[in-house]
Amino acid sequence: MVYSDASQVFGELISGDGKKLLSEITGFLPEGLTVRTAQPHLNTLNAKLRSRGYAPDLISAALTLTSLRIQGKAKFGEAAADMFFTRDGLEQATRGVIAERHAAAFVQAGAHAVADLGCGIGSDSRAFAQAGLGVEAVELDATTAAVATANLSSYPTARVRVADVTALDIDTLRADGVDALFVDPSRRTGAARGSQRIYDPEQWSPPLSQAISWAKTIGRVAIKVAPGIEHATLPPTWHAQWTSVDGELVEALLYSPAMGLPAGRSACVMRSAASGTVFSTLIDEGARGNCAARVAQAPVGVLGSMLTEPDPAVIRSGGIATLAEQFGAHLISGSIAYLTADSLPAAEWWTRFEVCSVVPLRMKAIKKALREFDPSSVEIKKRGASIDTGAMQRALASALSSDSDGGEMTVFATRLGDTHRAILTRRLDHAGNRTSH
Ligand SMILES: C[S@@+](CC[C@H](N)C(=O)[O-])C[C@H]1O[C@@H](n2cnc3c(N)ncnc32)[C@H](O)[C@@H]1O
Repeated sequence: MVYSDASQVFGELISGDGKKLLSEITGFLPEGLTVRTAQPHLNTLNAKLRSRGYAPDLISAALTLTSLRIQGKAKFGEAAADMFFTRDGLEQATRGVIAERHAAAFVQAGAHAVADLGCGIGSDSRAFAQAGLGVEAVELDATTAAVATANLSSYPTARVRVADVTALDIDTLRADGVDALFVDPSRRTGAARGSQRIYDPEQWSPPLSQAISWAKTIGRVAIKVAPGIEHATLPPTWHAQWTSVDGELVEALLYSPAMGLPAGRSACVMRSAASGTVFSTLIDEGARGNCAARVAQAPVGVLGSMLTEPDPAVIRSGGIATLAEQFGAHLISGSIAYLTADSLPAAEWWTRFEVCSVVPLRMKAIKKALREFDPSSVEIKKRGASIDTGAMQRALASALSSDSDGGEMTVFATRLGDTHRAILTRRLDHAGNRTSH
């Protein structure tokens, strides 16, 4: 069979023959494959499946989906095995654990039915439906909408339609019972234009100002924005929250006043734990009452015996001064987000390092100092210094002795006050023991 377009192949993939093919592929694959280990297996399946009479386009789509399901485990865990993806859709999709947080925020705000405007493959919509919310998902791209429809097929309270959200009548949505909006605008050019990041929020689809204006009609609105967005451009009465998962910055979200959070900014730090994901929130005290407030300057002082690297969500939200105040710490230099003091407790807001030595930021000096500690490996971090960390890492490797059991050291290439320095440290775990990254 020859298919006329991607939508038709996808239609086949989620029905009779496609489902049978997908389960045959799963049956051929060993358990526990990763993206890397799966590829050789998938490569050998093509000919085998053709001999069973499946159309080449369908085989290719099924193998791609199988590979994306394996890749999708990083965002969705085991649930990815039954989900449908496009490559772009998976890349842009909200992680399962974060989508659940979005859903919880709507439930907490008293919403009953959410319109997911630009729903992609439906990761957020799925979490909304799982939380018992009605879902009106809208997507411009027909193939992506078909994928979202497949992902939402077991949720009777969810429906997907193909439409341009910039032309939607929000009054009609409200009249239809929608009482909350979730907007995750496209912030990249399409694959055809190199999938480049779009920095101007007015060039996003939908544009940020339009998404914000919808809150006049339907009060509860949450909008995903680029984590690097300038604070000054944020709507002052809204709440902006930056979220990281296990130290990786994953999103920034704007909540309208009707979502019930106070005007201002915060960081949400999420960590995987045996008991599930735990999260903690740090409010930026300097932005209380004004989301667009300038970031308060933390005090600067001398390097103590402990150095910390704050979580990226705290840095982006502007909460460094709050953190410094709370723990009696200070910056090592005006614009460099490393906090220091002689003693600082373990906290979810930062990673701690014990300072071992400080030398000029020159290879000869660093190598000489490293030899004293005889580490077995070195990790380089930089802020405020224009060095090539890869090149520095390679150059320092020659200073390490191959039979050392001296553990790992972290070298910070940075500034102390106005001078460039290398700070040699040991990473500490929560209990204060030396550890490696
Ligand atoms: C960042 S993705 C959404 C990802 C989604 N939150 C998820 O977790 O799967 C943005 C989506 O918005 C869609 N989109 C962009 N402009 C749109 C418009 N004007 N109308 C409807 N959908 C649009 C894109 O096709 C894309 O699928």
